[in-house]
Amino acid sequence: MIGLRLSFCCTSDVVACLMAGCRDGCGRNGEEDGEHKVAKPLAIEHGSLPIFYTPDVRRTWNPEPRSGTKVPYVTVLKRYLSGGQADARLNADAMSTFTIDTSTSRATPSPVPGKRMTAPAIRGRKVDARTEQPVVMLTAYTMRMAQLLDPHCDMLLVGDSLGQVIYGLPSTIPVTMEMMCAHGAAVVRGSWHALVAVDMPFGSYEASPEQAFANASRLMKETGCAAVKLEGGEAMASTVEFLTHRGIPVIGHVGLTPQAVNILGGYGARGREEREADKIINDAKAIDEAGAFCIVVEGVMEPVADAITAAVAAPVIGIGASAQCDGQVLVIDDMLGMFERTPRFVKRYDSLAERIDEAARVYAEEVRARRFPTAEQTYRTKSPA
Ligand code: KIV
Repeated sequence: MIGLRLSFCCTSDVVACLMAGCRDGCGRNGEEDGEHKVAKPLAIEHGSLPIFYTPDVRRTWNPEPRSGTKVPYVTVLKRYLSGGQADARLNADAMSTFTIDTSTSRATPSPVPGKRMTAPAIRGRKVDARTEQPVVMLTAYTMRMAQLLDPHCDMLLVGDSLGQVIYGLPSTIPVTMEMMCAHGAAVVRGSWHALVAVDMPFGSYEASPEQAFANASRLMKETGCAAVKLEGGEAMASTVEFLTHRGIPVIGHVGLTPQAVNILGGYGARGREEREADKIINDAKAIDEAGAFCIVVEGVMEPVADAITAAVAAPVIGIGASAQCDGQVLVIDDMLGMFERTPRFVKRYDSLAERIDEAARVYAEEVRARRFPTAEQTYRTKSPA
């Protein structure tokens, strides 16, 4: 097996040499005899980063290697450069290259990967203002939930609702790029069929199209997602156009836009008055014309959602909107019944909170009564026959 050898001369020579693709890191940098041993990557996984099996590197960097451990060479190189202290950003870059290790006990093997849903395929569902097959979307924030939802969904949204759902924050305002990157990468790792879209958090895109591009491209690089979502109507149209013209599929989000809660004054349904209804419809049209491949319409009066669905070319994904929308999305924890409060627009498909409460109660009772663990859950040496 080919490995990177890191046991030589001065760091800068080695780095230049490795950057040039020399598989042995000969350190000559092509100047003395122009001879590098340039290696082709052994495997390309999840994007374009080569993964090498590197016995030497494992000895150096992984104190307790398991046999077969894969180490992305960018990670190795960055750790080497920083004396083992790779900075957070560089680590995050490499995160999306990891694939699920099915030899660990909690990773459920994925079926043979199929072709993922694409933004053009979603956009193409709506023809002449009609959508034959409604678009199914749910939020997901973790690898395991993504695995469970993926076979049933066209799109998985790593929503910034994770601020409230996962982190217990009071709103989506404090959500950071780091949170979105970490959860986005986990959801991409846990899915193989659905298109994964990641929300751009508050403050990461509003200042300028350039700011939006820098952060949207970071989300795509670090998570492997295929699209981003951002909130806002007419004011964001030039940004949506800027991103789509530069290779970033965008989902718009109009109506009740939670990141604007401090302007809106709450989470009540929008579009009760004609002026506001017209504004929301115009917002959706602007985002549609700017090139969004679909548009989330949240928390609006039914006629407003119907008018938008009829007016725009892109599929409209409703949440608290209308059954006439081209698709629907719900926050997964809401539809599973994880919270006591159920907003009006949510249908509970389960009561998971109650079931978890009961499971934890029984566990606690058994531990206190020393009924768990039993022989079945205990390692014992086999008695000689
Ligand atoms: O953040 C989120 O989960 C969302 C959905 C509610 C559409 O934006």
